[in-house]
Amino acid sequence: MVLFYPFEMEQYLETLLGERDPLLREMEEQALKETIPVVTPMIGNFLNLLVHMGKAQAILEIGTAIGYSTIWLARAAETTGGHVTTIDLNKDRCARALIYFERAGLQNLITALEGDARKILPVLNSRFDFVFIDAAKGEYLEYLNLIYHLIAPGGLLVVDNVLFRGWVVPGSAITPKYDRMVNGLRRFLDDLCQNRDFITTVLPFGDGMSVSRRLNAKCDI
Ligand SMILES: C[S@@+](CC[C@H](N)C(=O)[O-])C[C@H]1O[C@@H](n2cnc3c(N)ncnc32)[C@H](O)[C@@H]1O
Repeated sequence: MVLFYPFEMEQYLETLLGERDPLLREMEEQALKETIPVVTPMIGNFLNLLVHMGKAQAILEIGTAIGYSTIWLARAAETTGGHVTTIDLNKDRCARALIYFERAGLQNLITALEGDARKILPVLNSRFDFVFIDAAKGEYLEYLNLIYHLIAPGGLLVVDNVLFRGWVVPGSAITPKYDRMVNGLRRFLDDLCQNRDFITTVLPFGDGMSVSRRLNAKCDI
């Protein structure tokens, strides 16, 4: 069985989004030119919508790259009165992200931390009500174990690329070099979906996105 990543659908959906601001456009073009893997505009728009809907204030992102998804998140934080903390281990990308944050006028709403999320997460001592993971796919299970206790009751955990080109679906054609990553993503999804502290749905959207809500012991189902 071969699963096709629906680029044509993505392109069509993008036409429905309307005009984006010139800075986001510039970043999309730059990312494309340098093959920096940033979220699609549809996903950026969805993240922005989720932050608005959840009125999220404390927002955490793992995987900044040049700050494209961070800007979508921070634009929503402008309205919710929130703040975005974003982590990336790539020095050069972090430096470029800071310039984009300044240019977007969002520098006061974003704290960029440079380093390995697996080292930074254990020393973060704040609760987050929105967490977006978009870093090394083979490390997702590690992030998950480090992030669980940082998510506030009622908070959202959103994870990108969880279906990785559809290859996570058993029986699909995987290029052997991705075996490890795909198996890691399967274990990650099993773990997340079986965790009774969260209610999770996996959307076959973009490259696959999981959306989980941390149950509030007091008032949830
Ligand atoms: C897919 S890109 C992030 C794209 C960004 N979220 C966007 O859509 O604009 C993944 C990023 O994760 C970073 N990364 C990979 N492993 C990491 C780790 N262990 N800790 C922190 N960042 C990591 C990489 O340097 C890379 O810039």
